[in-house]
Amino acid sequence: MSTSVKHKILFVCLGNICRSPAAEGVMRHIASREGLRGVEIDSAGTYGGHAGDLPDPRMRHAASKRGYNLTHRARRITEEDFDRFDMIIVMDDMNYENVHCLAPSREAARRIFRFMEFCRRHPDRTYVPDPYYEGHEGFELVLDLLEDGCEGIAEQILRKA
Ligand code: 4NP
Repeated sequence: MSTSVKHKILFVCLGNICRSPAAEGVMRHIASREGLRGVEIDSAGTYGGHAGDLPDPRMRHAASKRGYNLTHRARRITEEDFDRFDMIIVMDDMNYENVHCLAPSREAARRIFRFMEFCRRHPDRTYVPDPYYEGHEGFELVLDLLEDGCEGIAEQILRKA
């Protein structure tokens, strides 16, 4: 089975310091564990106020306890990202609306997906909640959802390979 097909995935949230850089870290880990070659993974935010920052220390701490080292520097999504990535995966409905407004064409807009579409173990949830104003359990919930959905993404890639 060939795993050399190119998959370019951009995870998007609001600030690019909590959910999407964690999704990037979880997806990198699973891609490496599953031997998925040729997968490119990045993340961005719809808001640029944290550009250049490392992920939030609370998210880095929660992620490191599960073995994920988050080193991404925050950046704002741009229209050019629609040329660079073939899946743009958003965390919630507000992200979806904002990314959709940025899409340069209808064809480009078809590359936007909601993260929860890929989850198998959380059928009651429709979005990945923003943990920024939450306690540590909010960060743990985000990581639970991200692990579920990133496994779903990996399965989809393996099915297509
Ligand atoms: P994220 O969380 O979208 O998961 O990175 C947030 C980070 C920062 C802010 C909001 C949400 N903020 O308002 O600065």
